[in-house]
Amino acid sequence: MSRSKTAYVCQECSTQYVRWQGQCNSCKQWETIVQEELETKAKKAWDRNEHATKSSKPIKIDQIDLRKRPRIITQNKEFDRVIGGGLVPGSMVLIGGEPGIGKSTLLLQISLDAEEVVLYISGEESVEQIKLRADRIGGNKKNCYVLAETKLESIFEHINRLSPGLVVVDSIQTLVSARVDSIASSITQIRTCTSELLEFSKKTLIPVVLIGHITKEGQLAGPKVLEHMVDTVLLFEGDQNYSHRLLRTQKNRFGPTSEIGIYQMHSNGLTEVENPSRLLISQKDSHSSGYAIGVTVEGIRPLLIEVQALVSTAVYGTPQRSSTGFNSKRLNMLLAILEKRVGFSLGTKDVFINITGGIKVEEPAIDLAVVMAVLSSYYDLTIPQSTCFGAEIGLSGEIRAVPKIEIRIKEAQKRGYKEFVMSKHNESVEEIHDIKLYQSERIEKVIQHFFRP
Ligand code: TYD
Ligand code: MG
Repeated sequence: MSRSKTAYVCQECSTQYVRWQGQCNSCKQWETIVQEELETKAKKAWDRNEHATKSSKPIKIDQIDLRKRPRIITQNKEFDRVIGGGLVPGSMVLIGGEPGIGKSTLLLQISLDAEEVVLYISGEESVEQIKLRADRIGGNKKNCYVLAETKLESIFEHINRLSPGLVVVDSIQTLVSARVDSIASSITQIRTCTSELLEFSKKTLIPVVLIGHITKEGQLAGPKVLEHMVDTVLLFEGDQNYSHRLLRTQKNRFGPTSEIGIYQMHSNGLTEVENPSRLLISQKDSHSSGYAIGVTVEGIRPLLIEVQALVSTAVYGTPQRSSTGFNSKRLNMLLAILEKRVGFSLGTKDVFINITGGIKVEEPAIDLAVVMAVLSSYYDLTIPQSTCFGAEIGLSGEIRAVPKIEIRIKEAQKRGYKEFVMSKHNESVEEIHDIKLYQSERIEKVIQHFFRP
């Protein structure tokens, strides 16, 4: 009788220890080490067998023929574009997102419309529940098989029998492998199931899409190595209060990571959004202060966004700062610049910032729009509705150039904006019609131009 071995494993970085200890030597995190069952002798036998049958051989790189294995194009254009032009054979994609955001809906929709046979495995819903959802979504349904199962061994059996062109697993946290003793969704189970699926996918060249849960902090649940193991990590995001959803790449071995796909959730599933800018700008007709339009670029895709600001007199000692969709540290920095460079006493004011539509913007290119919205509210003066801003602001109050300026200007022009405010340091842009460019190098000058305080 051989005992199965146990080890103490750090849940953050997977470092193993013989004894328990409070802090991990390698990642320096506290209280992250827990006792885990290591893989049993079944694993060793499997490994030996694996070794014997392996018949790989080196091949000259220019002799590898890619045409034999083209990417698998799903009927979902946004999804295909975000992952870099279709699924690569033998690749593994992990898609994470908050509960209820629409991960299952998206993947089921892709499965229902697929041109090749898809096996949609769910450990969370029964086949009847999946059918109910499928009926709401529609789709051609001709190639989609569903399986409600959590045991990995049995899943492999079914895959071998069906030999699908794509496998979807909803979700990786529900799978259990008999090779390890831990319960479903433990670190060891997630790691083992993923590596077995990975092995399978590389061997058969069938792409596997995994749905993953995320923790309260917004990280993918499970060991950090999960993200290292898979080829592509996608995040499905959005605000539950709004109907649009964003599909972003966090990691992609086979394509760019800056692409973003935009969907809208309807009663009959998700639709792809052609004109996201219109979705994100609030339909206000009255002309009020505290609004500025900025333009951000995600991948190659420009997005017009609306920044709303409210500046009011602070009632209590410490003024409040609140920002939704924009980094609050960056907001504080911008306010400090305004205080220092243009002498605003924002220290006695509450400042609230909101990016409409519930989207998050990381790009510094909307700095100027944020600052202008704040000042517009502060002076209670409106900014012309036909003006759009696209520049970063430096610590000394300089207006800095931003990349892909041409895409930004063109988007503004296409949406009917008449004036674009940008840095003097951005190269002059050719072939721009019907939109006036206002270029400046100092924040003071822009303020003078719009508000003449
Ligand atoms: P779901 O795909 O189950 O989310 P996840 O798998 O990420 O947890 O999506 C559930 C939400 O989507 C739920 O609130 C209902 C909504 N929904 C629609 O609005 N329309 C639809 O056609 C479907 C299928 C779901
Ligand atoms: Mg789900």
